[in-house]
Amino acid sequence: MSSYQTRKTPGDTAWFRHDRFGMFIHWGLYALPARHEWVKSYEKTPEDVYDRYFRHFDPDLYDAKEWARQAKAAGMKYAVLTTKHHEGFCLFDSQYTDYKCTNTPAGRDLVREYVDAFRAEGLKIGFYYSLIDWHHPDVPIDPLHPRRDDENVPEMNRGRDMHRYAEYMRNQVTELLTNYGKIDILWFDFSYSNNNPPEKPWLRGKGRDDWEAEKLIATARSLQPGIIIDNRTEIEQDLWTPEQYQPQSWVRHKETGELVTWEACQTFSGSWGYYRDETSWKSPEMLIQMLVQTVALGGNLLMNVGPTARGCFDYRAQAALQVFADWMKFNSRSIYGCTMAEPEFKAPNGCRLTQSEDGKRLYIHLFQYPYAFLELPGFAGKVEYAQFLHDASEILFSENGVKHFSEGRTQGDDLLVLNLPAVKPPVIVPVIELFLK
Ligand code: GLC
Repeated sequence: MSSYQTRKTPGDTAWFRHDRFGMFIHWGLYALPARHEWVKSYEKTPEDVYDRYFRHFDPDLYDAKEWARQAKAAGMKYAVLTTKHHEGFCLFDSQYTDYKCTNTPAGRDLVREYVDAFRAEGLKIGFYYSLIDWHHPDVPIDPLHPRRDDENVPEMNRGRDMHRYAEYMRNQVTELLTNYGKIDILWFDFSYSNNNPPEKPWLRGKGRDDWEAEKLIATARSLQPGIIIDNRTEIEQDLWTPEQYQPQSWVRHKETGELVTWEACQTFSGSWGYYRDETSWKSPEMLIQMLVQTVALGGNLLMNVGPTARGCFDYRAQAALQVFADWMKFNSRSIYGCTMAEPEFKAPNGCRLTQSEDGKRLYIHLFQYPYAFLELPGFAGKVEYAQFLHDASEILFSENGVKHFSEGRTQGDDLLVLNLPAVKPPVIVPVIELFLK
């Protein structure tokens, strides 16, 4: 058994740590401007201008079953959809607002179709819910709000009632956690109570007290007791969520130093929402290496797709998902049910290790192909059998060092040497599966 213990939290995280890989979906009105999901804030777009996206939101090609099929093929085991992002637009039929998809040309509850389709494919269901709201009239204008630079902000903020907004959030979370069956993850986003620009004292960031986060979480837990909730309300819950960066060691609790359940969230191209002209798409190598690197440090990867306003994954997103599909088809055994390797096993240069939870199998991921020999100090006497994972072809090994007339011998009693083919197999990141004694 793995010797790593993670900090205990209220939600049911056991399935989550087993499954390791999920799909994030950022979809909303911002898919129409197609230049970042923060476009309303970045461009300080007035409400009446932003309204044209509401009038034209018509995802006629939306087929949640197709999304679910692609997620599953990519090896993803759960998904998290933006039910409402910072723009405030709801992809579900909420009775507490008119600013929802049923009132656009879409004309139907898009969250319902997502839930039904993903559940039917056996994926677990997550809801992202934005704490930030740039549409709701009760939310005071703050440093992130599109109206932050208007002349008369203090006046515009008069009468805005954050308590009413906090109640609105509780009502919507109640809808989301009541009307769609079992929900596995609730992903709140995000707090910034430390963002208080001194030159504009009338603007103030927001955090747990503004959201009335304690009540919000209690509401969620009362409806779905085992649900996994992230930490972005400013109240610590189940999930630590490093964003757009890959931790270099297992994420630890700041005060206690305990290992925590963590999930890196990553984009294919820097933006979460569909961004037509974005060109910084990650390479296939980066995609697979991110996933491996994450699991090698005991974490999960939540890989984002930003569907278009027609309701599709665009060709670049489909190609990126296909990279995962091709690799996971043959190599998922080194991901599911795996975690950081036990400390006795050190990864050789250019490699990353994962180990099955039961401790019986160790996986060597070859980020750099090592030519014909892979030297593993400390592994001698521990390995019963070795093979490539993608084709289950045997890998011969020896335990008495590398012998070759040209260079003498690499010594080491504890050295295990794998004999690899000189040419890298046609797999982006080849994996060697070691059956431990
Ligand atoms: C950020 C962004 C947001 C995105 C999220 C995903 O907080 O505000 O647009 O949804 O990260 O982690």
